[in-house]
Amino acid sequence: MDRPGWAPETVDVNWPSAARVYDYILGGAHNFAVDRELAEELIRTSPDVAETMRANRVFLRRAVRFLIREGIRQFLDVGSGIPTVGNVHEIAQKAAPESTVVYVDVDPVAVAHSEAILEGNDRAGVICADLGESDRILNEANKLGLIDFSRPVAVLLAGVVHFIPDAADPAGLVAQLCEPLVSGSYLLVSHTTFDGQPPEVIEAQRLAARTSTPLFPRTHAEILAYFEGTTLVEPGLVFIPLWRPDPGETVAHPERTSAYAGVGRKD
Ligand SMILES: C[S@@+](CC[C@H](N)C(=O)[O-])C[C@H]1O[C@@H](n2cnc3c(N)ncnc32)[C@H](O)[C@@H]1O
Repeated sequence: MDRPGWAPETVDVNWPSAARVYDYILGGAHNFAVDRELAEELIRTSPDVAETMRANRVFLRRAVRFLIREGIRQFLDVGSGIPTVGNVHEIAQKAAPESTVVYVDVDPVAVAHSEAILEGNDRAGVICADLGESDRILNEANKLGLIDFSRPVAVLLAGVVHFIPDAADPAGLVAQLCEPLVSGSYLLVSHTTFDGQPPEVIEAQRLAARTSTPLFPRTHAEILAYFEGTTLVEPGLVFIPLWRPDPGETVAHPERTSAYAGVGRKD
């Protein structure tokens, strides 16, 4: 297919990416025909997938507001994705304009589009890096002058650790990212699971494996292990819609989102 003007030269337009599939399902415009085809197949196989992605964005929004109320003013958002409605810098800087945000993503389209929307915002920046390159991420975030590691930072890992295979030691990589954080910093994780899931969700994982970033759902216990060295804030690690729902909000089948979410405060 032809390369749209906004797509960096380095991107293979014939190979789907998780960032662009997610963008399409959330209603974005930064995706290629291969991404749309895979997204439609995912939606057919697992009709709750769009709801899961929307629930994840709602969780992220709620959690960023919570973190601002807790006094956090620095956010390191790793696996930040293609900017869409309600980006972290928009939510944080609306609530506390002095907040700084560093986005990190491995996908060149996500990085290019983030750079474009952050133009003119001197309190937010973006780094193209893999979650596994913690030293580089921490150095570059520091160099951008946007994160002062002597003060509390919130590391946001929304919908990203499930792209790390067991062989790459996801718990170890999360620990490396959180190692330099001072006490009172926060770790946010949302992560897909097979816990309590019907066969069609498991089928959806097979499809997601065809992107350049296959998915590795994990159990509650495995995801809980990422929070070692932190104390989970209420309500703990729960199916996404159960994380501090709005007053009066009821969720009939929270397990259908097939993903857990939690926020821990570094001890
Ligand atoms: C499902 S999107 C989540 C976007 C956003 N965090 C959210 O929750 O709405 C996952 C993002 O993680 C990125 N990603 C996947 N593996 C990664 C890795 N190893 N390092 C950095 N980013 C990664 C993808 O490119 C994609 O943009």
